[in-house]
Amino acid sequence: MMLELPKFPTSVKLKSIAVLTSGGDAPGMNAAVRAVVRYGLAKGVSVYGIPKGYSGLLEGQFNPMTLSSVANIIQKGGTILKTDRCPAFMKKSVRKEAANLLRRHGIDGLVVIGGDGSFTGASLLEAENRFPTMGVPGTIDNDIAETDDTIGFDTAVNTAIDAIDRIRDTASSHDRTFLVEVMGRNSGWIALSTGIGGGAETIIVPEEPYTIRKIDETIRRGLERGKSSSIIVVAEGKTSGRGREIAEALIKLGHLEPKVCTLGHIQRGGAPSAHDRMLGSFLGATATQLLIAGKSKGMVGVKNNRVVYVPYSRVIGKKKALPANATHLASILAS
Ligand code: ADP
Ligand code: F6P
Repeated sequence: MMLELPKFPTSVKLKSIAVLTSGGDAPGMNAAVRAVVRYGLAKGVSVYGIPKGYSGLLEGQFNPMTLSSVANIIQKGGTILKTDRCPAFMKKSVRKEAANLLRRHGIDGLVVIGGDGSFTGASLLEAENRFPTMGVPGTIDNDIAETDDTIGFDTAVNTAIDAIDRIRDTASSHDRTFLVEVMGRNSGWIALSTGIGGGAETIIVPEEPYTIRKIDETIRRGLERGKSSSIIVVAEGKTSGRGREIAEALIKLGHLEPKVCTLGHIQRGGAPSAHDRMLGSFLGATATQLLIAGKSKGMVGVKNNRVVYVPYSRVIGKKKALPANATHLASILAS
């Protein structure tokens, strides 16, 4: 993958910026942090790393970053800055205090690497306090509107597919049906990509209704044509446990011992793929380039292989639809 970079402004209007990672961690966040730090320093801008997302910001933790602070991290999973969920940041008065803290430290712009919730916080911080922010989409869920891709998604899908390949070995040895539950609170992107890439017979996503009857029919059709095992990929949805629910319903219909395997946080860890390192590098650098040139109130993303800037108003709270008919195609390919 090589992304196209449009000719964005290259002027330098800010003197000092900070960067934080927020929400669920995602492989490739370190590549983005490294790009923010190295791009900023290359342009003569001071860069501070804020540990633990908005929580570290509220504690006034601003660590000066040097070229060597981000050495040897591009290949590491997780985030060296650490991340957090910070309910206090939902309060307007707290966000005002955060803007004051940033200003008191001489910081005049903030890069936020995270998901939709983190962008909501950044957008409110900016709108209420006129403090410039720029978002970088980092979440394994790939559920951010107006960007084709998010940092961490590719690695998470590859991790889940590797797990499915292993499950398939034991499933076929024992002639069993397996329900593999993957992450995806509100979206089926991981389930869909994992299911298609792993050759699953059925893919259950939060965006589309499913019936036990249909899953049952698919398994039985497979048995009739000589298939002895099946893999069903299930997105966890709002609360984990959907795989177990479906397994119990299948037992009631006479299926023997469907097994459930919940991949959980395994999908969030591990070394980032080449794709996510590249994505983190391009998006982190472009976010910094735009922010120091005076552009803010939005995120950088990818559209048709091109790095783009999108205002928060077109991103936050918006749903990114799954490709039409993709689950249907998956079931044809696995029939
Ligand atoms: P993600 O960024 O991955 O979607 P969360 O939804 O957990 O993750 O949000 C991360 C953090 O962003 C929250 O812990 C909170 O600090 C901040 N945030 C989320 N929603 C809001 C909101 N409505 N207003 C202000 N800050 C928010
Ligand atoms: O990173 C996004 C996500 O992985 C969701 O798919 C999942 O439901 C959630 O985070 C769980 O994260 P945590 O255990 O950190 O709350």
